[in-house]
Amino acid sequence: MTAGGAAELDVELVRKDFPILERTVHDGRPLVYLDNAATAQKPRAVIDAMRDYYELHNANVHRGIHALAEEATALYEGARDKVAAFVNAPDRHEIVFTKNSSEALNLVTYAFSNAATQGEQAERFRLGPGDEVVVTEMEHHSNLVPWQMLCQRTGARLRWLGLTDEGRLDLGNLDEVINERTKVVSFVHQSNILGTVNPVAPIAARARQVGALVVLDGSQSVPHLPIDVTALDVDFLAFTGHKMCGPTGIGVLWGRRELLEVMPPFLGGGEMIELVTMEASTYAPPPHRFEAGTPMIAQAVGLGAAVDYLTGLAGGAGMAAVAAHEHRLTEYALARLAEVPGLQIIGPTGAVDRGGAISFLLSGADGRAIHPHDVGQVLDEQGIAVRVGHHCARPVCLRFGVPATTRASFHLYTTTSEIDALVEGLAGVRRFFQS
Ligand code: ALA
Repeated sequence: MTAGGAAELDVELVRKDFPILERTVHDGRPLVYLDNAATAQKPRAVIDAMRDYYELHNANVHRGIHALAEEATALYEGARDKVAAFVNAPDRHEIVFTKNSSEALNLVTYAFSNAATQGEQAERFRLGPGDEVVVTEMEHHSNLVPWQMLCQRTGARLRWLGLTDEGRLDLGNLDEVINERTKVVSFVHQSNILGTVNPVAPIAARARQVGALVVLDGSQSVPHLPIDVTALDVDFLAFTGHKMCGPTGIGVLWGRRELLEVMPPFLGGGEMIELVTMEASTYAPPPHRFEAGTPMIAQAVGLGAAVDYLTGLAGGAGMAAVAAHEHRLTEYALARLAEVPGLQIIGPTGAVDRGGAISFLLSGADGRAIHPHDVGQVLDEQGIAVRVGHHCARPVCLRFGVPATTRASFHLYTTTSEIDALVEGLAGVRRFFQS
């Protein structure tokens, strides 16, 4: 047990649930998988649930009256119940399945566009010249480009909160950036490149003061922290299945029911309608209004299994145990990386309000920068998987004046020995570029 009473993860036991962690790469080197912010590995429970679905229950949902259709529908809607409980959503109808976080965020931005033609009830989403949309300089492109596109379509102005040198949000001009013209504030909970965990409360409170809607990108927080949408006090939360040990191809938009009830749809088609004539259509209530076409059924089943898996960890301590483990790992990694000569972390150097995605630059003994692509390649030869590049958050690289970084990112199955392997691997990189 930890000091706080939550049971600790038994990491060696957890690792046995993930078949891929047993494999080797490059002539028998053990895999050291430190690219978890890009995608997490899948436990056997998820793989089995999806195979079981296809082997035993496959049918289309909501349409058939035969046994398989009923089973598939129960599994799909059961996954919605599980996800709702996972983020403490007050109402299962507030969970909309999407393809990924990007689609969830595009769903919201297109709802704003489509509000122009959807009558009085969509007023809350109407946007035009004179209105402002606020994001931050640390957004993943998926929470930046859709808002840029929305502003181009509507004539609204895009504004953003900047960053401190430490890689935290600069809230010094919060009241000026979020003002009476602001219609929506959309920001990332945990940065995929800096690791920073942003303070939701003051930003949401300021947005409420001016009547703006609040959208939170939880792609990197929902897989790593216990999340309670009622406590967060935001209007929408987007996240994705594959980073939380679920399959690719499924994401989630949680939204307050009263907003989803009046929000215009994004995609039209089957499943999302109420009545259709040749002239016009009316739409189904949420969540189906936002789930046009045959949905990602097997993927939803897999996501439900991932939620069960995460929730059941450490005797039911679940995400509290995951967060505590990753916090310890982050503290350990920051301390160990500080020992590596020529290494500079881009982002907070302390583990407070920080997750386990650590970006850094590396220079050789001669002081010259080693390009992140070279760092990544030499690490890969040693079996260590990291990500290099701008991590789909290029404005962060521009802010810090770097073309790219190397990023190591952790998850529930990461061990301190893997961090030691990274530190040794980086010494190897420096040796390689010395000669
Ligand atoms: N958003 C993912 C990452 O940060 C792909 O790597």
